[in-house]
Amino acid sequence: MKIRFEGLTKRFPNRNKSIKSEVVAVDNFTFEIPDGKLVGLLGPSGCGKSTALNLICGLETPTEGKIFFDDDDVTDLPAENRGVGMVFQSYALYPHLNVKKNIMFPLQNLKGDKKMTKEQMEAKALEAAKIVQIEELMERKPKEMSGGQQQRVAIARALVKMPRVLLLDEPLSNLDARLRIQTREEIKRIQNTTKITTIFVTHDQEEAMSISDLIVVMKDGAVHQIGKPQEVYDNPKNLFVAKFLGTPPINVFSGKIQNGKLLIGDEAVLEKEYVKDTKDQEVFVGIRPEGFLLRPNSDGKTDGKAGCFHAKLLAVEVMGRDTSVVFSHSQSEVADSRLRAIVSSDNAIDPESEQVLFDLNPKKVFVFNKETGERLL
Ligand SMILES: Nc1ncnc2c1ncn2[C@@H]1O[C@H](COP(=O)(O)OP(=O)(O)OP(=O)(O)O)[C@@H](O)[C@H]1O
Ligand SMILES: [Mg+2]
Repeated sequence: MKIRFEGLTKRFPNRNKSIKSEVVAVDNFTFEIPDGKLVGLLGPSGCGKSTALNLICGLETPTEGKIFFDDDDVTDLPAENRGVGMVFQSYALYPHLNVKKNIMFPLQNLKGDKKMTKEQMEAKALEAAKIVQIEELMERKPKEMSGGQQQRVAIARALVKMPRVLLLDEPLSNLDARLRIQTREEIKRIQNTTKITTIFVTHDQEEAMSISDLIVVMKDGAVHQIGKPQEVYDNPKNLFVAKFLGTPPINVFSGKIQNGKLLIGDEAVLEKEYVKDTKDQEVFVGIRPEGFLLRPNSDGKTDGKAGCFHAKLLAVEVMGRDTSVVFSHSQSEVADSRLRAIVSSDNAIDPESEQVLFDLNPKKVFVFNKETGERLL
């Protein structure tokens, strides 16, 4: 089932009563989530992710705008009639019920021909518990389990009714690193087999990138970009999106375009043709860590060739397959920050040398308007 938003907006009165202004938690959502996809909703804390999910499942009423499931306007449909399974950020398990009863809970109020016998409900609960690998814990109460186990009970409970839409609000935040990767792959697998349209909230970009068919990047209530993870990574629309995706993060420098050249400090860092039609202006330049190419046998001396980038070498960290070159630069957006280039470990770098000299891969260099942060090139 596809989900469509038309001008969907949620404003809250400011919690601090002395401040009159409102908080715009969801700001004019107008886009469509295609049927049967796994969508990662991504953005920093407080950007409105949970509010967006609460609007979709019907726990919050929008201030303005509409929500459609396929062609049905569900904006005023009560939560229980929307067919949405939700895993809350806080899990919201019933403390007095054991795992089995928690998972069975959504099945108990089914009416008419959907009504189930106790045996059927138990079988469904076991099926859901097996998916998230907690079938051994069926008799436990929530307080007798770890955070990660409780989280999996909440996922099983959301799945048990085979909802039309599955909403997961940071479902992996309490799992340890290994279980987190395992569970996210599991979520991907469940979504692939069930084809339930799923929205997965996270502030962890790597998690969102790794399993989502589409990602929606949000900030301050507004959607900044929607696209396939790789497309958004390769083509960020603005500086915020460029910075939000990628580990290690993109390196940002102050620069300028002058006479068709892209300058960082007084170095022209790209060949001329890349910026030839852009008017002279101050810019921010974002360079992905993998966009730095070590110049062979570079001893830090300029050889006069265009398209070079000098930096002060701070450290060389060997990571096996790759090597991380840590450097600083006078034009970095945040003064004195430790910047990172990732190069293949075939490169031999003398950790004692003071400078490094890179060529840049133009596909990994993004230029942004200094005021608005919008992408220029
Ligand atoms: N009931 C409420 N009353 C007033 N303000 C609220 C309410 N719920 C959320 N907000 C505000 O709306 C904004 C969005 O909150 P929301 O919980 O949706 O963010 P989030 O992206 O889920 O953050 P996190 O990643 O920390 O969970 C925040 O500024 C928050 O303080
Ligand atoms: Mg939240």
